[in-house]
Amino acid sequence: METIIEMQLIAIDKEKCKKDGICITECPFNILKENSDGIPEMIPGGEAVCMRCGHCLAVCPAGALTLGGEAPGSSGPVKKNLSIEADAMEHLLKTRRSVRVYKDKPVPRETAGRLMDMMRWAPTAKNLQPVYWTLVDDRKKIRRMAGMTIDWLRECNIFPEMIATWDNEGEDMVLRDAPLMAIAHSHKDALNPPVDCTIAMTTLELAASAMGIGGCWAGFFMGAANNYVPLEEYLDLPEGHNVYAALMLGYPKFSYQRIPAREGEKVRWF
Ligand SMILES: Cc1cc2nc3c(=O)[nH]c(=O)nc-3n(C[C@H](O)[C@H](O)[C@H](O)COP(=O)(O)O)c2cc1C
Repeated sequence: METIIEMQLIAIDKEKCKKDGICITECPFNILKENSDGIPEMIPGGEAVCMRCGHCLAVCPAGALTLGGEAPGSSGPVKKNLSIEADAMEHLLKTRRSVRVYKDKPVPRETAGRLMDMMRWAPTAKNLQPVYWTLVDDRKKIRRMAGMTIDWLRECNIFPEMIATWDNEGEDMVLRDAPLMAIAHSHKDALNPPVDCTIAMTTLELAASAMGIGGCWAGFFMGAANNYVPLEEYLDLPEGHNVYAALMLGYPKFSYQRIPAREGEKVRWF
């Protein structure tokens, strides 16, 4: 007997489906509905609206739903024993610091690869996943990018003290001689690339921090990367891409002993 109802995008295992309607309620765009047997099916035209977020597949307690050929068992299970307690999360958020002094120790590409894998789950507008990464772990290239950022500051006639420190002491206050740079870029015509890249980079900073790797946003570099032609040419990003976020990464040389103060919450209940 045929138990799988094939649809264009989703397939339901009729034997497993409990007809609980959870996938229907969960769908962000209301493109699933019950058929006359109580089995979910996609509304006409639903495929064009579906953003492949996978919530229907993720939420089904019975594992009855296949999405775009991705069967329930082929994706990772949610491990309840690994969920982060509020205290641990609060501690991570409050103890994350911008790390600017690094050990002379490379971040293994395998570790960076694990972080990149995790970043695929950072939220993006309409689940369009427009974020591209350029990773640089060649110290000479990082220094070259820092030097070009200094050249841009020189051209703009701003931050003379950073320029002087570079010129006179050879000290890199731009990229801090970081062993690894992560640059998030996206096509400028994507739906919301600044927000998507910023979320991805913030997610990366937090994830790296949980793995003992410190990050620091590279704001000066970000300015130069989209405004200084020699650096744009050096980066050689895909056509139409802009840099929306950049982070220095490395193992912290020092460990922080306490949490610095911050301003009080600026909250308004409306
Ligand atoms: C968008 C952005 C750009 C930043 N650019 C730089 C930068 O170019 N160089 C730097 O040393 N720190 C930079 N920072 C780090 C901030 O100075 C830092 O987050 C702030 O001082 C608070 O310190 P904390 O992150 O340790 O809590 C940047 C942070 C953000 C969010």
